[in-house]
Formats: sequence, structure tokens, C-alpha cells
Amino acid sequence: MSRPPTSYERALWEQAAAARERAYAPYSRFPVGAALRLANGEVVLGANVENASYGMTICAERTAVVTAVVRGERQFEAIAVACPDRVRTGSPCGACRQVLTEFAPEMTVVYRRDGELVAEPAAALLPASFELDPGE
Ligand code: THU
Repeated sequence: MSRPPTSYERALWEQAAAARERAYAPYSRFPVGAALRLANGEVVLGANVENASYGMTICAERTAVVTAVVRGERQFEAIAVACPDRVRTGSPCGACRQVLTEFAPEMTVVYRRDGELVAEPAAALLPASFELDPGE
């Protein structure tokens, strides 16, 4: 399902790599950056924010998504994720896939796998995601 990224997707990944500088990852020492491209062309950055209570950690992808949403933006085109070099598959974790799919199942996810950048739709990364009718 994955394909080589376009040049603009590569550029988005470079922005994600730069956003790693913003990570707060003193426990894992694994700073992750994310760059979320909105439908209006703007890019919102994210980085992982850890906590002494480890389970409270928020991934880079979700910090980018929540930042965009509180800015009033929910139309997402693509997200790039950049991890330290030692990663084998630097794709969004399962929890982040669920959050991305809620807003934009068609969005492109750019990540590094075995040293190569790849691009793939969010829905392909999480088939049969949990869906709930918000009701009245
Ligand atoms: N992490 C992310 O920020 N995104 C991912 O997709 C996977 C993992 C973070 C969480 C934690 O701070 C560190 O990477 C090590 O798991």
C-alpha cells in the first residue's frame, strides 16, 4: 500500500525532523517530531511530551493534531513523522492512528521504514478503526 513520497512530502518530513528539537523526552531519549499539513497549506508542528508518570506521555502526532484542532482546523492533508535514526519502523503508534483516522482517513502519512521514507493513507494503516456515532 505504501509508495515513495513526493518531493513536497519529503519537505514535510524535513519539517518533522526539525520539530524533534521541541520534544520533551528525558525518559526515553527518543525525540519524535511531527509536521501536519492542513488543507489550507499551513503546517502545524508537534513533538512528543513525556512525563515522570510514563503513561501520561503524548506522542508527536497527537500533539500536532490537538494543536490544529484547538486552532479551529480539522481538514488534514498529510502528516510526516520523524524519529531518531535507530528506529526500524517510525510509523504512528496504534493510538495515534486512531486519532488521525477520526479526522482524516484519507490523509497521507509519511514515515521512515528500514531507512527509507514511505507514504501511505491513514486508513491503510488502521483498517476497521473504531467509529462511534456522536448522536444528537
Ligand atoms: N512516540 C511518538 O511520539 N510517536 C510515535 O508514533 C511512537 C512513539 C514517542 C512516545 C515516547 O515519548 C517515545 O516516542 C518512545 O516511545
